Order: sequence, then C-alpha cells, then structure tokens
Amino acid sequence: MAIPERFIDDLVSRSDIVDVVSDYVQLTKRSGSNMFGLCPFHNEKTPSFSVSPDKQIYHCFGCGKGGGVINFIMEIENLPFPDAVRFLAKRAGMEVPEDTVDDRTATRRSRLLALNKDAARFFYENLSKPVGAGAVEYINSRGLNKDVVVRFGLGAAPDSWNTLSDAMQSKGYSVGELLEAGLVKRGRNGGVYDVFRNRLMFPVIDVHGDVVGFSGRIIGDGEPKYLNSPDTPVFQKSRNLFALNLARKTKRGMLMLVEGNIDVVMLHQAGFDCAVASLGTSLTTEQARLMARYTKNAVLCYDSDNAGVKAVQRAIPILESTGLSVRVLRMSGAKDPDEYIKKHGADSFTVLLERSENHIEYTLLSARDKYDLATDDGRLGFMREATGLLAALPNAVERDIYSARAAEYAGVSLDAVKSEVNREVRRRIRESRQKRERDASRPELAVQPAERSLRYDNVPSAMAEEGIVRLLMLDPSLVKESGELKQEDFTSEFLGKVYSVICRRYNDGETVSLASLTRELTQEEMSHLSTVLQKPESLADSSEKLRDYIKRMQTEQLRARAKTDPIEAMKILRDRKGLSG
Ligand code: CTP
Ligand code: MN
Repeated sequence: MAIPERFIDDLVSRSDIVDVVSDYVQLTKRSGSNMFGLCPFHNEKTPSFSVSPDKQIYHCFGCGKGGGVINFIMEIENLPFPDAVRFLAKRAGMEVPEDTVDDRTATRRSRLLALNKDAARFFYENLSKPVGAGAVEYINSRGLNKDVVVRFGLGAAPDSWNTLSDAMQSKGYSVGELLEAGLVKRGRNGGVYDVFRNRLMFPVIDVHGDVVGFSGRIIGDGEPKYLNSPDTPVFQKSRNLFALNLARKTKRGMLMLVEGNIDVVMLHQAGFDCAVASLGTSLTTEQARLMARYTKNAVLCYDSDNAGVKAVQRAIPILESTGLSVRVLRMSGAKDPDEYIKKHGADSFTVLLERSENHIEYTLLSARDKYDLATDDGRLGFMREATGLLAALPNAVERDIYSARAAEYAGVSLDAVKSEVNREVRRRIRESRQKRERDASRPELAVQPAERSLRYDNVPSAMAEEGIVRLLMLDPSLVKESGELKQEDFTSEFLGKVYSVICRRYNDGETVSLASLTRELTQEEMSHLSTVLQKPESLADSSEKLRDYIKRMQTEQLRARAKTDPIEAMKILRDRKGLSG
C-alpha cells in the first residue's frame, strides 16, 4: 500500500469526524450521543444525516450513505482514497509520507494521459487528411466554424479497425495501455480493434487540462449516436462534464447544462461559453457538485422532447441538493439549443435565457400544461400536484409566492391553497419524524441496498452476522474466540467478506479500524458497514454475546434449511446433538 497504515491511523485520530463534517454540514446535537444535520448527499428538508462522535462514523438514514471520516471526504470532495488522505492531512497540518508504489501508479496515470493526448492529436490531424473528409463535411454541415473546432480540439476517427491502434503502438504505447485507456477492445480472434471508428471525435478534457477520455459522435444518423470512453483509471463518466475545462472560465456567472456535445460546441460558438454536457449518463450528484465548485447558478437547457422534459425533472433536485440555484430554459419551435440558434439567432436565445424561469415556476407551469383547467377534474388534479410541489419548498416565503401563482392558475382562492399546503407540510414533517423513529428502533427494516452482494437472503441470520461484525470492530481480539467460524458460514456475502478481512488483518498483526477497512471496501460497502455499525452494541459480556450470535446464525440457517430440505436439516440437527452429547 502506498501510504503507510500507521500514518492513516494517526491522521484519522487527529481528524475528528464531527469537526470535519461541520465544515460542510450544520450539525445539531440530538437523540443520545448522535449529532444530526441535513444530508449533503441527497435532497431533504428534515435532517436524517447522523454523525456519531463515539464511533467516528456518519450515516444517513435517508439515502444510506455512510462511513468514516475518509469516506466522507472521498464522497463530498469527489476524491479517490489517496487524494482524500492528502486532503485530510493538509487540513490536519500533517505531511503524507509517500513511497515508490505511489510513484508507480502516478507513472501509469501519466502514461495513460499522454496516450490520450497523443490520440487526440492523431484525431485532430486527421481532419486535414483524406481519411477525415467525412468528418470535415459533417462539421461544415452542422455549421461549426474553424475557431471552435480548434478550441475544442475536435477530430476524426477514420473508418478503420486499426489505424489508431497502429499509430499509437508506433509511438511506443503497449496494447495493454491502449486497452486500459479504452481506445481499443479485444476481439474474438485475440487481436485488438479500434473502439472509435468513423466518428466525429470530442476529447473530454478535465479541469486540469488533461485529456481524460473521448466522445465520438456518429457522422450523420445512426445508433448509437454517441460513443463514450469507458471508465478508466483516469476517467469516470459520472464525475466529468464535457467542456467544463472551458466553461468554468465563463464570465456569465452560470453554467448551462445541455444534452448533446454538438449543442455545447454550437453554444460556445454563439458566445454562450457556459455550456457543458454530461457524458451520456443522466446527471449525477458528483457532476452537480463539480458544477457547484465553479458557480452558484445552473440553467437546464435539455432537448424539448419528452425525454428531455423528464431529464429536467430528474436533474432539478440533484442540482438543488448541492446548493445551486436552478433555472430552466424553455424552448419552443426548436428541439434543442443548436437548432434554436440556427433558426432564430444568438440574440433571440439570449432573450430566452433571460426569461428562463426558476425551476419552481417551470415545474408549476409544466403541471399546469398537463391539466385542462377549464374542468373541475383538471383543476383538482392540478391542485393536488401543485400542493405536493409547494409543500416541498424549504422556504416559507417561496411557498407563499408560488401558492399565489398556483391559486391564480387554478382560479381558486389563495387561502384555500395555503391551508392545503400547510396541511401537507405538517403531514410530511410528521411522516419523516415517524420514519426516522421507525428506522432507528427497527434498523433491520432499513432499505435493502441495491448492490446484489449487499442484500440479505436470510435476514434473521444476517442480523446475528451483523452483531458479530460489530463486536469484532469494537474489539478485534475477539477473533481468537470466534473459533471455527468461517467466511462461508455467513449468509451475507458482504458480512462474510468483512469478517474475513478483520480476521486476516488481526492475524497478520495489522490494525483493524474503520479507516483500515476503507482501503479494502468500496464506498457502497462502507455505507452499508456504517448502517451495521450505527446500531447499538456494547462489549459487556462480549464473549458470551459472540457465542450467542454464532449460535443464532446456526439456528436460523437450520430453520431456513428445514423449509427447503427438511430431511437434510434433521440430519444436521442429529449430527450436532451427537457431537455435543
Ligand atoms: N449523449 C451521450 N454521450 C455524450 C453526449 C450525449 O450518450 N457524450 C446522449 C445524451 O444522453 C442524449 C443524446 O446523446 O440522450 C444527446 O443527443 P442530442 O442532443 O440529440 O445530440 P446532438 O449531437 O446534439 O444531436 P442532434 O444534432 O440530433 O441534436
Ligand atoms: Mn442536439
């Protein structure tokens, strides 16, 4: 491992989780020893994000995210483990001892970045060769000028299976490196072939100016319209935005999110140098947070088709949860910004932009347009939807302003709207309080995680397995008393894995701490572990408790077995009896 374990333990002990989290979240003390605040990882109105000073973990009862102090920084600052460690070290005024393994990963990264840069140059140079003629023609047909072609470093992937691969190998890159960069794939015959063929190429350049990946648009019509680099050691689609390298320097005081790369380039050409696009995924929280680093204002300008409208609705809460103020640009008479600008010109687009509604207006208007307000049914339907929207607004002044707007649309009295909205607000507060209490008192009913390996097939046994993990985290020396218990005895794949990691580390004389596990588990697994660890457990009578948990696992597994295979279950029971007496 690159950074010594001892340093990480030291760092964690000097980075109090309450202190670190408080840099981002306002915490208030509540319910026992836990502190609560509004979760920074999802959008919520009542706090379900808890921090335990005793256990030094955070856990959100709403979205399930959780972990130790390093996970928190990884999650909120968008950093991989070593960078999160460096970030915390800087905060704690400590110097990170680096060693050679780290240099090796650094070299590998810089090789991949150099390869990407060479590939981008190769694509760009093709534009002035016969192989790039199709791409050039397409660029011209879309009305993109030389200036933006250069600014974005657009290029052409030739219609060939190996031109890029050959060119890069002759520059000294290995097939392994080409595979790792996602530029080639292995074919059935064992050889490799170019991934991007006959496409207009858009290099994806991150905020440091490195070419981290590519999008390739088909020339003309066809599917898939865009092909993006896969995730690689230097590229994560969910954490990058196309053109942010340019747009972050805009003087417009906003970032505009659009769908297609062509839209982005056309907008920049027309002077809207604030346009960015996500890379074929629907907007992620990480992307929203990335935007929030550079601006306070986001404008959504997706295509005006149904898919675009749906994507706007999905994106609004994600952007809002990062503190961005969100507006939505509504276009009519054109399917996307590119077409709009071509038809009506940049000045007309400026007017649209100035008129763009804040997202509440936008959502209210979209709801209004869905119903026939000339009928009673239509008005009722609209009011039901509007009440939900209005009740979700965090701010009473906003609620009042938009209640008036809704009353106007529906032609009902403002008082009627207000009383409906207030009732809904109270109902929601009650509901979330009840849910929190329920979750805290019956943690086993908490949402099952999406990841298959984290789900419990045998819940009663898994509850005992969780108990074992909790005890061992509190006192790893109990490993000596877990006797014959093996990873395979766990019904939960995840808990079995944690158990084996704890045992291995303990037996190797290494530390067993949340921080040490952060390296071995994924963020999702750490979140799940935080769910397990936030449940109460004490070390009183720990040996006996451990034995009880193990016994409960066996009983519950036998019980499950008896349901599917009674004869085998009887046999096991008989053997066990025979053994013990
Ligand atoms: N998309 C993608 N990868 C990218 C960019 C966009 O997969 N790097 C996807 C988006 O998710 C969206 C669609 O492609 O669904 C964008 O399409 P569109 O806006 O139609 O792209 P344009 O190139 O602007 O195409 P057109 O000229 O037809 O508007
Ligand atoms: Mn488009």
